[in-house]
Amino acid sequence: KRVAILISGGGSNMVSLVDSMTGNHPARPCLVLSNDPQASGLVKAADRGIPTAAVDHRPFAGDRAAFEAELLKPLEQAQPDIVCLAGFMRVLTGDFVSRFQGRMLNIHPSLLPKYKGLNTHARAIEAGDAEHGCSVHEVTAELDDGPILGQARLAIEAGDTAASLAARVLVFEHKLYPAVLRRYASGDRNPVLLS
Ligand code: GRF
Repeated sequence: KRVAILISGGGSNMVSLVDSMTGNHPARPCLVLSNDPQASGLVKAADRGIPTAAVDHRPFAGDRAAFEAELLKPLEQAQPDIVCLAGFMRVLTGDFVSRFQGRMLNIHPSLLPKYKGLNTHARAIEAGDAEHGCSVHEVTAELDDGPILGQARLAIEAGDTAASLAARVLVFEHKLYPAVLRRYASGDRNPVLLS
């Protein structure tokens, strides 16, 4: 299976996914694509010998369809079987998603369906939740929705800040996403549950 990974920044989730696709793993990375030509994750991908591309979203300000038409070019050229959004911070239209429906995954730093959108760690602390975590789901037209393929759960600790909690969640993201991708690429849709 060919896996394309979309990033916006450091790409730590991308690195975890790439480094997991070795040996008898049914998938291999075929492209790392960013909406920011300066994304430092692009260098990490190139260092691992993976083809990279970038389409800066800023010149398309407001014209989402035009941006996505450009984004599609390297993506379709790479002929991915699976597309993984990994720290990708742009909202994709239903048209774009529909081209990859059923083979596009995303990782979101909350226990979905709680806390869709941004600032998830601060919101969980603010709400006084005992637990928080991250979720991998199939991408559908609705933001941070779609079938859950995996979750990792951890305790919110007294004194946690959004930053300290985010740091602990990120460690779990790096475990969860590769575990989900390995199952997904082998056709197994049973959810991965970590804690
Ligand atoms: C992190 O906040 C992570 O929780 C979310 O995207 C952000 C950057 O991730 N998935 P990455 O290091 O670029 O993978």
